[in-house]
Amino acid sequence: MNPYKPRYTSITRIERLAPGIKLYRLAYKSKHKPGQFVEVFLPHYGEAPMSICSYSREYIELCVRCVGNLTRALHALHIDDKIGVRGPYGAGYPVEEFKGKHLYLIGGGTGVAPLRSVILYAERHPKDFPSINIFLGFRTPRDVLFKGDIERWQTKFRVFLSVDRPTKSWRHSRGVITTLLEKQTLINKNSVAMVCGPPIMIKFVIKTLNQAGFDDEQIYVSMERLMRCGIGKCGHCMINELYVCKDGPVFRYDTIKGRSE
Ligand SMILES: Cc1cc2nc3c(=O)[nH]c(=O)nc-3n(C[C@H](O)[C@H](O)[C@H](O)COP(=O)(O)OP(=O)(O)OC[C@H]3O[C@@H](n4cnc5c(N)ncnc54)[C@H](O)[C@@H]3O)c2cc1C
Ligand code: FES
Repeated sequence: MNPYKPRYTSITRIERLAPGIKLYRLAYKSKHKPGQFVEVFLPHYGEAPMSICSYSREYIELCVRCVGNLTRALHALHIDDKIGVRGPYGAGYPVEEFKGKHLYLIGGGTGVAPLRSVILYAERHPKDFPSINIFLGFRTPRDVLFKGDIERWQTKFRVFLSVDRPTKSWRHSRGVITTLLEKQTLINKNSVAMVCGPPIMIKFVIKTLNQAGFDDEQIYVSMERLMRCGIGKCGHCMINELYVCKDGPVFRYDTIKGRSE
């Protein structure tokens, strides 16, 4: 079997989440773990990795930011159009190991996408986690992703939101996500933290978590690297001897800390 051959899959739902960002539901059946990704392919436009932001065996959802050739072409598609997909790939979050622990999910911008798959998993397994604490940061209120989900999560989890540039009607926090974290009492005992977002955000969030008593072994980060094959063959994604596509993109922080690129 050719591992590079995509499976053509219909789009069953499209939702505009924020300026330049759309959610696509694809009729792609797979048994995936939260935090895994797929390679998305369109003839003439190429292929790119995308995080699975849903948790279902019947479909996958992708949150696509329009940044270049392929994503521009994806944004022009309609319901019932077909997309090539291969995967799921990558290690994902070891959610079974998190059973019995307090979860801290900290995301910025489109970094919220892979965390959504963990939150949807936690919604399906509510008795597995003593508490679920969600910290999300965006540029402006218009950029807030998954607004419908957030409203639902606010009824059952601790959810904290912040934007860099608030409007008058914004009722949540203002400023960088670390300020949001510093305002709350973080329980470091029997907890795991998952961090996903721009590299600079990840760096400062880890510092804040360490100051709150979290060890590096309790922190998981999701890495975005330029990728080609997605299956550990081409070496494009490597950080030292690690393949981000195969060993990651989710890494326990102590396993990648200090590695040069
Ligand atoms: C594991 C993984 C998961 C991802 N998940 C998502 C997702 O859920 N949603 C989403 O919108 N995007 C995601 N991406 C990023 C996406 O794959 C790239 O932006 C992709 O290149 C878009 O293809 P394009 O042809 O539209 O843009 P291109 O023409 O390839 O690139 C447009 C611009 O983005 C830059 N760029 C491309 N890839 C990256 C990268 N990995 N990191 C930093 N800059 C990059 C390019 O240098 C260029 O400046 C993910 C990437 C990885 C590695
Ligand atoms: S993308 Fe080819 S080895 Fe990781």
